[in-house]
Amino acid sequence: MNLNDTELIKSIMIEAGFEIVDEFNKADVILLNTCSVREHATERVHNIIGNIYSKIKNRKYKTVFGILGCMAKHYGDEMFLYTNIVNLVVGVDEYRKLPDLVKECFEGENKIAIDLNTKEDYNDIIPFRKSTISAWLTIMRGCNNFCSYCVVPYVRGSERSRSVDSILKEVSYLVDNDIKEITLLGQNVNNYSYNDFDFPKLLGTVADTAPDIRIRFITSHPKNMTSELIDTIAKYDNICNYIHLPVQSGSDRILEKMNRKYTTEHYLSLVNEIKDKLPSNAISTDIIAGYPSETLEDHQATLDLIKEVRFTSAFMFRYSPRKGTKAFNEINDVPEAEKIRRLNEIINLQIQISEEINTAKIKNIYPVLIEGTSKKSYNQLKGKSELFDTVVFCNRKNKYKIGDKVPVKIVDATNKTLKGYIIENKCEF
Ligand code: 5AD
Ligand code: SF4
Repeated sequence: MNLNDTELIKSIMIEAGFEIVDEFNKADVILLNTCSVREHATERVHNIIGNIYSKIKNRKYKTVFGILGCMAKHYGDEMFLYTNIVNLVVGVDEYRKLPDLVKECFEGENKIAIDLNTKEDYNDIIPFRKSTISAWLTIMRGCNNFCSYCVVPYVRGSERSRSVDSILKEVSYLVDNDIKEITLLGQNVNNYSYNDFDFPKLLGTVADTAPDIRIRFITSHPKNMTSELIDTIAKYDNICNYIHLPVQSGSDRILEKMNRKYTTEHYLSLVNEIKDKLPSNAISTDIIAGYPSETLEDHQATLDLIKEVRFTSAFMFRYSPRKGTKAFNEINDVPEAEKIRRLNEIINLQIQISEEINTAKIKNIYPVLIEGTSKKSYNQLKGKSELFDTVVFCNRKNKYKIGDKVPVKIVDATNKTLKGYIIENKCEF
């Protein structure tokens, strides 16, 4: 969501006459879009601010340095105190004001704009996208779920769905621009609601509007994922059978404390329905280790659930108290070292499962959308399978280019990557 917001910000700035430069030293406006979902994310931002400080502190000319996004709202004008180089702080619903605020900063004032605005959906702005292959498309903003550990509803505001018309316009624009993959974005897409459109209906309509484009979506909240959604995914070839379904914990007691509003029984019934209706499928998840009061029994329940579901991949975090959330008032009683131990146990289990799932894909052939060259070798290409696997393969005769979809036979696998060859172009790894 933040990456897509950055594209939106670029678009707003370019429209107002600003230019994006390719070198840091050429920039007299620096805008840093930030995340505050976990402490680790904010620590990284503090490091980046420190780096930027050392690069610009001796500048003889005025530089506007703005902190944008979730940290702007979370920390407010504390950001000005942090170093004397930050002179602009702008939250997620105030980006339209950016060009004017930057100009005012050049006149010498520090500026802050962090109000939330449930009416703001940036409907009319086409994000400035770098990728010519994949596009994020925000269908809703904000969140009303108030999971007890999560700062998102406070920094991104209440949920609002974009109009169907504006979404479909953007889809058509992406089709015209030869994009190959669209990912619909929302904190909880299953809550999408606009006139008589719910999410399954919107998803089907997007798939009809862009029949040759791969359609993905994130994120689904298990509490309102429906059979209709799974049926819609099954019905359309161009909707990827990859579902990100954050479970957070395998303990019903902890799920209740987290205010997740579902039980593990409900979660597992969704997983079974997905596996029944989508024979080729990938389910990934988010997990938090060491939530306040989590016992060894609760932790074991999470490990058991991971074993039962067999996620293809997972984003795994240790609990990080966020000021302003309900859980912040609870005693953060799992010691940090124990949180790390539990997290490592979860990670190791998941690595093993991912490796087993990937190894079972050896000898299969998957259509892969080429996204670029492999980091390790220019002779190798990398891309994504429908199930969101990263696949690396040779391009020996330089026959294929970014954006092509090619059949790749898998010959090797790790927990993170599949390796193979394009079937009419065999080569060794
Ligand atoms: N501590 C740890 N993880 C968190 N997440 C959100 N808030 C916290 C927190 N306070 C994780 C959840 C969510 C993902 C985006 O970030 O797993 O699904
Ligand atoms: Fe945070 Fe829960 Fe909303 Fe996700 S659904 S953004 S975890 S409050």
